[in-house]
Amino acid sequence: MEVVRVSLFSIIFSILIICTTHLGHGFQTPRTNKTDRLALLAFKDHIKEDPLGVLSSWNESLQNQLHSRIPSDVGFTLPNLQYFAAGCNYLHGEIPASLLNASKLQVVNLPFNNLSGVIPSNLGRLWNLESLGLDDNLLETSEDEGLGFLTSLINCTNLRQLDLTNNRFKGELPASIANLSTKLELLSLGKNQISGKIPDEIGNLVGLTWLQIGRSYITGEIPSSIGKLKKLARLELFENGISGLIASSLGNITQLQDLSLQDNNLSGIIPPSLANCSQLGKLLLGNNYLIGNIPKQLLSLPSMLVLFVPGNSLIGQLPSEVGNLSNLIGLLVSHNRLSGEIPSTLGKCLMLQGLWMQDNMFEGSIPSSFSKLKNLEDLDLSRNNLSGQVPKYLQNFTLLQNLNLSFNNFDGEVPIEGIFKNASIISVNGNQRLCGGIEQLGLPPCQVMRKKGKFQQLKVVIPIIASCSLFLIIVLLAIFSYRKKSKRRASTIVQEKEFFPQISYAELSQAINQFSPSNLVGKGSFGSVYKGILTTNGMIVAVKVLNLKQKGAAKSFLAEYFKGSDFKAIVYEFMQNGSLEEWLHPHENQVEVGKFNFIQRLNIAIDVAFALEYLHYYCQPTIVHGDLKPSNVLLDHDMVAHVGDFGLSSIFRDESNHSNASREQNSSIGIKGTVGYIPPEYGMGSKASMEGDVYSFGIMLLEMIIGKRPTDPMFNDGFNIHQFTKTALPERVMEILEPSLLQEIHVTDNRGIEHSRAKNNMGRRTGVLESLSEVARVGVFCSVESPNERMEMKQVVAELSAIKHRFLGARN
Ligand SMILES: *[C@@H]1O[C@H](CO)[C@@H](O)[C@H](O)[C@H]1NC(C)=O
Ligand SMILES: *[C@@H]1O[C@H](CO)[C@@H](O)[C@H](O)[C@H]1NC(C)=O
Ligand SMILES: *[C@@H]1O[C@H](CO)[C@@H](O)[C@H](O)[C@H]1NC(C)=O
Ligand SMILES: *[C@@H]1O[C@H](CO)[C@@H](O)[C@H](O)[C@H]1NC(C)=O
Ligand SMILES: *[C@@H]1O[C@H](CO)[C@@H](O)[C@H](O)[C@H]1NC(C)=O
Ligand SMILES: *[C@@H]1O[C@H](CO)[C@@H](O)[C@H](O)[C@H]1NC(C)=O
Ligand SMILES: *[C@@H]1O[C@H](CO)[C@@H](O)[C@H](O)[C@H]1NC(C)=O
Repeated sequence: MEVVRVSLFSIIFSILIICTTHLGHGFQTPRTNKTDRLALLAFKDHIKEDPLGVLSSWNESLQNQLHSRIPSDVGFTLPNLQYFAAGCNYLHGEIPASLLNASKLQVVNLPFNNLSGVIPSNLGRLWNLESLGLDDNLLETSEDEGLGFLTSLINCTNLRQLDLTNNRFKGELPASIANLSTKLELLSLGKNQISGKIPDEIGNLVGLTWLQIGRSYITGEIPSSIGKLKKLARLELFENGISGLIASSLGNITQLQDLSLQDNNLSGIIPPSLANCSQLGKLLLGNNYLIGNIPKQLLSLPSMLVLFVPGNSLIGQLPSEVGNLSNLIGLLVSHNRLSGEIPSTLGKCLMLQGLWMQDNMFEGSIPSSFSKLKNLEDLDLSRNNLSGQVPKYLQNFTLLQNLNLSFNNFDGEVPIEGIFKNASIISVNGNQRLCGGIEQLGLPPCQVMRKKGKFQQLKVVIPIIASCSLFLIIVLLAIFSYRKKSKRRASTIVQEKEFFPQISYAELSQAINQFSPSNLVGKGSFGSVYKGILTTNGMIVAVKVLNLKQKGAAKSFLAEYFKGSDFKAIVYEFMQNGSLEEWLHPHENQVEVGKFNFIQRLNIAIDVAFALEYLHYYCQPTIVHGDLKPSNVLLDHDMVAHVGDFGLSSIFRDESNHSNASREQNSSIGIKGTVGYIPPEYGMGSKASMEGDVYSFGIMLLEMIIGKRPTDPMFNDGFNIHQFTKTALPERVMEILEPSLLQEIHVTDNRGIEHSRAKNNMGRRTGVLESLSEVARVGVFCSVESPNERMEMKQVVAELSAIKHRFLGARN
């Protein structure tokens, strides 16, 4: 009996890892005096980013593992030092006072270390300073001086960046910070215990693009002079004790993209003037004491990505203008006193991934336009006064992870298909008149009610079907053309995060030796791949550090805001034997290829087929891989195949390590897949489908047999690998085979032929050649042009397994 190797559960391990939001601040280029250069080699710079790059890149040359103290005489021995950067190390101890003697210093960037002690209070003697980055250390303030060193920095007239986030600074914010250089762009002081108020003169710092004093002890009001900071793009004052009104002058900051004032004691209304901030993407005002309506005007900003106003006392209706927020991915209005019906225009916010409206007083039914919100992951309407039926279309919202309809007045039948099969996704309790649903929901059955109407209904239904079908076709066409445009991109991004655990940055960094070059196994346009071992479970992993700068911003709601978004990596189980691609098309110096025989290929094909079958039929929700190709099939130490990179293709659209592929999926509609492997219908706008995966699988199967890429120059003008193989079947298979397989036929079949003949006298005799042509036939059936005529993955698995049985049976 065969034990077919199924490697499904190790298929993929993709994890979004987020470091901290402040990794990025720093400076661009080292400018060292020649004399000091040698000494500085030890302190290699690795941080570079402009403070407004929302996503910053991680410098791959990072290799420091400085565990030392900063030499106490550093300022004496390097009096000409200009650039001192050694972030993300294990530097500990104090910042030596001698540093102040290196009066030419322009950059002191030592973030992410374990520096402790008190900052020299006359730091301002370094009057050339342009960047001071000491964030994420253990630095303190002295009892008597407090934050006085900030005052001394007034003398640094070129200061552009000041980042002290996440230390142990205490004390009142000196009003003198308003006298810092007008060149100051970044002022980041959050995650300390800084108290006091934001000085009224803050408006002097006209160069500021980013002001961050979050998670601290700031009180007082937001000074209205803040409206003078015309360049401000991010204002983050969340998690403080700030009270008073939201300054309406904020509306004067037309560059503002991110206004984070959540978790304070703000009162009054949401100023409608904010509507003048035409680039506003995140408006986070949750958990304050705000009253009044959600201003209509605000809902006209197409830039808006996240509107976060839960936990206030907002009243009135949700204005129907909300439908204008065409890029909205998160709307959180929960725990307010909003009332009226849910505007049906909300169905126009097609990008919505999270909609939290619970604990309000909304009434009426769920608008039918919600059927379009297929990107929803979270839909919480609980604790309102909603009525009507639970919409059937929600069954098909495969991305939904949480549907909460509890404590409303919904009635009728709870669906049982799709997501409604999974009791852990849906909550419907506290609705007295619901019935049906799956058993776990514990609702009364609906049968009694249904039986009565059944026959009557039939009569009505038939004519309706007839008259409706034309209409239906039109609607379907509309839906298809819409999907073509917008659906695909968002949905796949979303998929990853649901399935995969998170690893802390620290653990990851440790696993790959703090990004040591000796752990570097590859580099591509997408970023770098490191190999390492996770300390928690000893798993060997490959860590793909994404070069996010090249990707453009990941639009995912969660990546973008809720978790911060500066460092991302994907962690895979490390696959010792590389990818199928390397086995099929080895470089000259790879010798193993000789060992890559028919049965190994067949095993790999079966593994992949199993994986796809699993994704297609046993995953909830069904997963379409969308970009199957040999480089996505990874082989572990036992040559068991693992299917990788699924769902990622749409993020990595420009990951162009195949120079030969003139990737048409770069178009704005975001077709996934790789040229050669994508089915023809994707090119015509069909959405990614199971049939599409079957096609890609078929092409790959043929490639495994004939050894040629589907993009081989011999295939052109509509003559493809499918036709090539088809025309050779069954007689001329020998002519198209990959050479090493051909050799195998000569050796194995000739030797084994007598034996098999004897054994299979009445049955079939299957040698390598015959099995190969059977496999080729499966490949051909999978890759036919018409999606409907392709085999299904279940069939493929059955066929390939049978071929393997016959083949092995013939030889034993
Ligand atoms: C360092 O600076 C201080 C204050 O200006 C000065 O008194 C001292 O002599 C300097 N030390 C050296 C070694 O230059
Ligand atoms: C700033 O510079 C002025 C004159 O250059 C000097 O008098 C003052 O002491 C300096 N302040 C600090 C804190 O270094
Ligand atoms: C800040 O500057 C203003 C005028 O430029 C001055 O009146 C004030 O005293 C300064 N504040 C501090 C703390 O240096
Ligand atoms: C905001 O702009 C308006 C009109 O331009 C002006 O009247 C107002 O004083 C400004 N407010 C602030 C705080 O700059
Ligand atoms: C659903 O909503 C109710 C009421 O808001 C809440 O108590 C419950 O925890 C929610 N269920 C889930 C699974 O989030
Ligand atoms: C809920 O809605 C119903 C009508 O659908 C209404 O009669 C009832 O008063 C509402 N309850 C509350 C608490 O608003
Ligand atoms: C139900 O949903 C939860 C949460 O998404 C998921 O972990 C679980 O695997 C699902 N169960 C089934 C049977 O699909």
